[in-house]
Amino acid sequence: MKPLPFALGLGLALAAVPALAQQAPVSAASPDGSVAVTLSIDGDGRAAYAVTRKGKPILAPSRLGFLFTDVAKIDRKLTVTGTELRDFDETWTQPWGEWSKIRNRYREFKVHLKETTALARVFTVAFRIYDDGVGFRYEFPAQAGLAKANVAEELTEFSFAQDGTAWWKPAFLWNREEYLYNKTPLSSVSNAATPITIKLADGTHVALHEAALIDYSGMAVARTEGTTLRAALTPGADGAKVQKTGAWTTPWRTLILADDAPGIYHSHLMLNLNEPNKLGDVSWFKPGKFAGVWWNMIKGEWSWARGPKHGATTENVKRYIDFAAANQIPNVLVEGWNVGWDGDWFGNGHDMDFAQPTEDFDVKALVAYGKKKGVRLIGHHETGGAATHYEKQFDKAFQFAADNGYMVVKTGYVTDAAQMEREDADGRKYREWHEGQWMVNHQLRMVQTAARYKIALDSHEPVKGTGLHRTWPNWVAREGMRGMEYNSWAGKNPPEHEANIVFTRMLEGPMDFTPGVVSLEGEKGSAILSTLAKQLALYVVIYSPVQMAADTPENYAKYPGPLKFIREVPTDWDETRVLNGEIGDFVTIARKQRGGEGWYIGAVGDEQERGSSFKLDFLTPGKRYKAEIYRDGDDADYRTAKRHSIVIESKVVTSQDAMSLRIAPGGGFAIRLVPVK
Ligand code: NOJ
Ligand code: CA
Repeated sequence: MKPLPFALGLGLALAAVPALAQQAPVSAASPDGSVAVTLSIDGDGRAAYAVTRKGKPILAPSRLGFLFTDVAKIDRKLTVTGTELRDFDETWTQPWGEWSKIRNRYREFKVHLKETTALARVFTVAFRIYDDGVGFRYEFPAQAGLAKANVAEELTEFSFAQDGTAWWKPAFLWNREEYLYNKTPLSSVSNAATPITIKLADGTHVALHEAALIDYSGMAVARTEGTTLRAALTPGADGAKVQKTGAWTTPWRTLILADDAPGIYHSHLMLNLNEPNKLGDVSWFKPGKFAGVWWNMIKGEWSWARGPKHGATTENVKRYIDFAAANQIPNVLVEGWNVGWDGDWFGNGHDMDFAQPTEDFDVKALVAYGKKKGVRLIGHHETGGAATHYEKQFDKAFQFAADNGYMVVKTGYVTDAAQMEREDADGRKYREWHEGQWMVNHQLRMVQTAARYKIALDSHEPVKGTGLHRTWPNWVAREGMRGMEYNSWAGKNPPEHEANIVFTRMLEGPMDFTPGVVSLEGEKGSAILSTLAKQLALYVVIYSPVQMAADTPENYAKYPGPLKFIREVPTDWDETRVLNGEIGDFVTIARKQRGGEGWYIGAVGDEQERGSSFKLDFLTPGKRYKAEIYRDGDDADYRTAKRHSIVIESKVVTSQDAMSLRIAPGGGFAIRLVPVK
């Protein structure tokens, strides 16, 4: 299959080539020519696409198509009726993020297909080919032969040309997105959630995910044979996995391609495949940290419910506001502040009232107290999975938040997979999946309603991130993975967890991981599998524009040195560089403070003792910087009583220097670099 000459190296800026009648196979390549896509049709008229990078096959011909619940499948008897090419290159600005400027440069290659049968249905496969990967989606125009599409399954395949090692978490199990990552041969993956990251036998790194998941169900992948994965859409309670009318498109199916793990993290492909900001000026949202009436509940010492152990009391919240104010932390999260938590809320949120504080939480007094000290409250809406019950309260809930000066609301959908409660206008009830089409739409309605009240959202038990925070930048963070809370309970996160999630879950966008448990203690005094220095590193390594100081004021009082780093580390960046890393082993990330001169570096390892060496050549030449280093003590080890051992020291460095630091078992380090006057 030779690429057609017209498809290569045209270098047109923002120019389109009109539809050309072409015989398959048809091909096109990325702007620098390194990534190429070919669409072919076999003897039965089946369409398949293949992807190469630097001339080497990444995806062998991988089939395309759909099953429907009520009409004939789209699979065979297809012909290419034409192709279109368009080059695009633009740089846009993120209101907040890991990079302030993002370049979006791709070649779009549209292949128009038609069935040769009497049905004669038509659709387009639109590829956007980047130098670091490919996104593609199906586009269906409105047509008589498919006026309503009830999708039973999407037959899109990802047929890898080589085996490799895959890091993936299981899909469709009871605990939703909250599983540890498996590391297995690609040829042993079963049902996997995306992103799934693969290191192919030749070393090429691939991350498979989706972008712009709107009005469609979330895509997992299931291995069908060998190294072939196929789309496995999240089920819906109406039977079809996706229901569409008129013209429709799928989300973008995305493949990031890189030489190494850091290269995967540097890709902007997912954000670029989302539509630009629809909210306009969102400067009302200020990235920042938050403290919270929270960790004591997670440890079981306080309760969300009213009673003698109730956490969200006026007195407790005042103490947290004092702590926040003293440490320039602009927000305090309060959970269990509202009526509805008494009794059995888990998987049952029918009693939740999102505008009715409990009698021992004096919201007006606390808002006034916080205002004097420059601290706002963060609201919390735990639905217990009663999604429609919550949706009926959207306006009243966000109005309450706005009236009390909240800038952020954290939402929650704690119920088992496939147990989300949907109630239609006719009163009929259904049980939906967290990532099914109905919930995808529900969450977007939540984000859009919140935006009208100038409220930013931090959603827990969410739909996975697919870059929609570009389009709706008030969707500032989400959970969607095992965060710090698991370190309180039995079955804690292992030391390699964060080195796994940087190259998997974090490709979805910001995560509310809730770092900074300096006590290194969970429930019943149980030991967290981390050193103290690693808790500081997480503020740089795990990105979120809203970042929690998760431990209690009493515990922070015991660690004034580490608390200084938490106080000073920003949550908004102009630039991000992954300096080194291997999936699940270690990673070192440097970030430049938004609008400032300071750089911050964080590194985490796994259960082994490791080292991290890197150059400081990203610093401004000719400038001298004070490096404040928070590193594991020489005897630090997550398995011993020495897990708190930390060395805090400083030295002066320049862009000519390099650094080499030890990472203890279960450890990490954090560095603050500020120019010396
Ligand atoms: C699970 C969330 O992840 C956690 O942060 C929250 O405190 C509980 N649900 C209660 O809503
Ligand atoms: Ca959770």
